[in-house]
Amino acid sequence: MILSPSILSADFGALRVQIKEVESAGADWLHLDVMDGHFVPNITFGAPVIKSVRSDTELFFDVHLMIYNPEKYIEDFVQAGADFITIHVEAAHEPKECIDLIHSFGVKAGIAFNPDTSVEAVEPYISDVDMVLAMTVFPGFGGQRYIIEVNEKVKKLRDLTGEEFLIQVDGGVNADTIGDAIDSGANVIVAGSAVFDGNITDNIIRLTEAAYKCGR
Ligand code: DX5
Ligand code: ZN
Repeated sequence: MILSPSILSADFGALRVQIKEVESAGADWLHLDVMDGHFVPNITFGAPVIKSVRSDTELFFDVHLMIYNPEKYIEDFVQAGADFITIHVEAAHEPKECIDLIHSFGVKAGIAFNPDTSVEAVEPYISDVDMVLAMTVFPGFGGQRYIIEVNEKVKKLRDLTGEEFLIQVDGGVNADTIGDAIDSGANVIVAGSAVFDGNITDNIIRLTEAAYKCGR
């Protein structure tokens, strides 16, 4: 199981310090939620913020683009230090071209889909990407409730992809929901408020313990 804490729920005034705490608490990845106010009803940050924290940490930068026309901005996020760039199947004009563009920079590429999008919509891209992201909330805000029905889609994806493939879930993951997500086949877990609300180190320990209880 890979834990990818989302800084969406971080204290942006203390971002450096909080990212270092995430790292020392044992997380491997950092999830960076980029929102454009069009594809989702919220605006967060762009490449300059990612660039400004890149040199502070060795964490693997998992950039989740919730933006229309992602192809226009791929190079900016690569330059900012993204290790993984995930685009939404609902937002890209030509997902395959955008995936190829990400790969052309030597960066890993993922495809995300919303809770009301079918697995069939991402299926054509599975062989092209390094990860599929199943949204377990409607993207735009942290702190929402995990949509349990998406676990069926995660199971379907796991059947389609085999054991090693990266399947990420994002939204509403906490110590109560992480177990079923993993049992359904998710192996990359994003958590925002469950990590950043309260004590970061304690929260990461709690989530990791809850994940290991279900044997993964
Ligand atoms: C939602 C974002 C998520 C969000 C998760 O649009 O993509 O990454 O930060 O936050 P929680 O874990 O609080 O649901
Ligand atoms: Zn996200």
